[in-house]
Amino acid sequence: MARLERKIAVITGAADGIGHAIAEAMAREGAHVFLGDIADSAGEEFAAALRAAGYRADYVHCDVSQKADIIGLIDSAVKKTGRLDVMVNNAAIAIGGMPVHEMTDEQWHRLIAVNLTSVFRGCKYALPHMIAQKSGSIINMASAQGHIGLDGWTAYAGAKGAVMAMTRQMAVEFGPMNIRVNSISPGTINTPMNDRLIKEIGGNLARAWVKMHPLGRIGEPSEVAEAAVYLASDAAGFTTGTDLRVDGGLTAAPRYVPELL
Ligand SMILES: NC(=O)c1ccc[n+]([C@@H]2O[C@H](COP(=O)([O-])OP(=O)(O)OC[C@H]3O[C@@H](n4cnc5c(N)ncnc54)[C@H](O)[C@@H]3O)[C@@H](O)[C@H]2O)c1
Repeated sequence: MARLERKIAVITGAADGIGHAIAEAMAREGAHVFLGDIADSAGEEFAAALRAAGYRADYVHCDVSQKADIIGLIDSAVKKTGRLDVMVNNAAIAIGGMPVHEMTDEQWHRLIAVNLTSVFRGCKYALPHMIAQKSGSIINMASAQGHIGLDGWTAYAGAKGAVMAMTRQMAVEFGPMNIRVNSISPGTINTPMNDRLIKEIGGNLARAWVKMHPLGRIGEPSEVAEAAVYLASDAAGFTTGTDLRVDGGLTAAPRYVPELL
């Protein structure tokens, strides 16, 4: 039997990258997926492709920095299906690669709006439905950078650290209502976000990333999606308040530079 049969899942940032892989994997496992993103044509096309493959999928425009859009995405899932089983707060942006004293207030506020306030709101507006049904699984996308330091990414790391702290807090608060709240911390994953960083920062960034991961490669979005399917599924019924690292060993060995040994 499919692992997410009859579950209703909302995924933000689902038009590309890790969110796309999560949506595809959850649909394949039987969930009805509601995809939110700002890339409307890619999102619509993706949802149509999932439906053509026989899965249940809807796309809804959702800029996660906008409260009304998050409410609209969650409401559309609940109006259409009557419930909400899984909320994946995945969308985020990468603003960094500069020392903290060179970051502008505008950059800081944009990053916090898209990467952190969005998670607060995604949880805030999903929880009442889950409380009413006395079940639910919330999955917040954190990062290896919430665990270890990397030059130039203070604000991004701060937001991801806060995502993990909020995840633990909500797991405690809503466990008695049978709502599980977990996060995932990916290492470097092969997504458009990182393609853009390689273009912007250049140099040996791609090679350095490979070296930093003890498994000797960066990860694939499908490998993060597997972790999300597990946390959404009943197989993870006793798992809450945890952060699942899908990072190729990156945080076990920060600065893995074998040629220096
Ligand atoms: N790629 C990595 O190496 C990596 C590592 C650790 C954590 N993460 C986290 O994983 C998540 C997904 O990252 P990714 O690499 O797939 O990113 P990505 O940039 O490749 O894809 C992000 C998706 O989110 C959408 N998006 C961007 N801004 C949005 C907004 N305001 N509202 C709604 N959607 C928006 C984009 O259109 C895109 O479809 C993020 O939370 C990121 O911080 C990624």
